[in-house]
Amino acid sequence: MRTAHRMDRRRLLQLAAAVAAGVSLPAFCLVRRWGADPFLLGVASGAPEPESVVLWTRLIAAGPFGTLGDEPISVRWEVAHDMNFSGLVRSGEALALSELAHSVHVEVLGLAPDRWYFYRFISGDAISPTGRTRTLPAPDAVVGRLRMAYASCQRWEHGYYSAYRHMREEQLDLVMFLGDYIYEYPNATAAVRSFPKLGWLTTLQEYRERHALHRSDPDLQAMHAACPWLLVWDDHEVQNDYAGLQAGDGFPLGLNSAADFAARRAAAYQAYYEHMPLRAAAFKRALAAGDGSAQLRLYSQLRFGRLADLLLLDTRQYRDPQVCGPRGRPSGLVDPLLCAALQDPTRSLLGAQQEQWLDQSLARAGSGWTVIGQQTLFGRRDNLAGPAVSLWNDGWDGYAAARTRLTDALQKHRVGSPVLLGGDVHENWIGHVKADYLRPDSAAVGVEFCGTSITSRAGGAAKVAQRLAENPHFVFAEGRHRGYGVTEFTPARLSTQLRVLDDATRPDARIETLARFSVQAGRPLLEQH
Ligand SMILES: [Fe+2]
Repeated sequence: MRTAHRMDRRRLLQLAAAVAAGVSLPAFCLVRRWGADPFLLGVASGAPEPESVVLWTRLIAAGPFGTLGDEPISVRWEVAHDMNFSGLVRSGEALALSELAHSVHVEVLGLAPDRWYFYRFISGDAISPTGRTRTLPAPDAVVGRLRMAYASCQRWEHGYYSAYRHMREEQLDLVMFLGDYIYEYPNATAAVRSFPKLGWLTTLQEYRERHALHRSDPDLQAMHAACPWLLVWDDHEVQNDYAGLQAGDGFPLGLNSAADFAARRAAAYQAYYEHMPLRAAAFKRALAAGDGSAQLRLYSQLRFGRLADLLLLDTRQYRDPQVCGPRGRPSGLVDPLLCAALQDPTRSLLGAQQEQWLDQSLARAGSGWTVIGQQTLFGRRDNLAGPAVSLWNDGWDGYAAARTRLTDALQKHRVGSPVLLGGDVHENWIGHVKADYLRPDSAAVGVEFCGTSITSRAGGAAKVAQRLAENPHFVFAEGRHRGYGVTEFTPARLSTQLRVLDDATRPDARIETLARFSVQAGRPLLEQH
């Protein structure tokens, strides 16, 4: 069994290397007549750089759960300035491998900085939908504007993706998706939409099917086709509240041993890579590590000219286990007076290597905005009224020393305009990032926008006002609405709109602006308008 696994991994590495090197394709796959559209999962782009971007698609047989056999399939890709593809800027051939669920990750090189492009894929007689993508400005370019959305938590059966239909109208440069792209659960009770195959995810095939189910949604597909996405995951891409290689909870007994979890995490990570516009290097490097625990490097830094540095953090893959979880569960609400380990400075949410990388990245950050996309609420949140304190041990509150290392790094490196973005809590929380959360009068060293969910339900909306009163470093909180945030950065200020749906359980939901905030560059003070 172990030998078979190693053989598979070696073959995958060889194939991935061959694809990256642009091998010529076997003749048998050059002509193909498709009975059904193989591009039903749409197209996507991501990981933009000044001269390159990743284009993604995945070929499938009829329906989102179809598979195409074992042979590699040839896919042509085209990039053009115009949507009619009359003059091609770049084009080439890629191989869709069955080992990677016939996904395609094309790294297009030689593009012009700060420019929009159209792209599409062709296989035999089938042509994909057309996508639109852009490159980043050159690192030293003077840039007047960046307009991006941040979003998270899109449990499929909890609602419709109306948020994405409205997001398409926002004229965005980028989408930052901060986690919970899929959920591992079976059908929800009172599901808004359901599918017969919605069971617990345990195998590679099941994780693939869940991703494909999401990607079959036309609104999500259209938003992926509208601009590049920057993607990081949270827990539900694998399992609720997992920590590194420690299983989370919620799974049926008998399916949650450490060995089960390691295999499940590896399967989930592979399926995630197969469905996201990520660079192959992230996945190849992980396979080459060879320690039996598949990894996928998602943390990264992008520079949007001199205007902004964009950092993406992964707070799941490398974290230490939660501590003091109630009733034998890994995660829950914890009284810090009864849990000294919450303050243990050796514990990390990012892992030592990512922390070191983050410190170096902050040291290199330019003088513009430093936007840190991560998974969850950053600021301390006491969840109980009165003097008693109750902290959620799965978030930054469970790793307070690691949070302090990050806020210390922001000060040490004199990061001028830090902006923390997050998700996970299914509520909008806006606040000041404090140098010391235990001292209300300590300096604000940045601002935080933690976003609500696209569809996932929120349980605690009734408690939001009380929690907000208890935690004065937050200036705004609201939990009844689903939606996303849109932030526009200019050299002088950022402006954020919280965009919310009237009803995420309706496919024709309308959008409105719940609140507006601005922050001047170099001055971490939230103003609500
Ligand atoms: Fe979530």
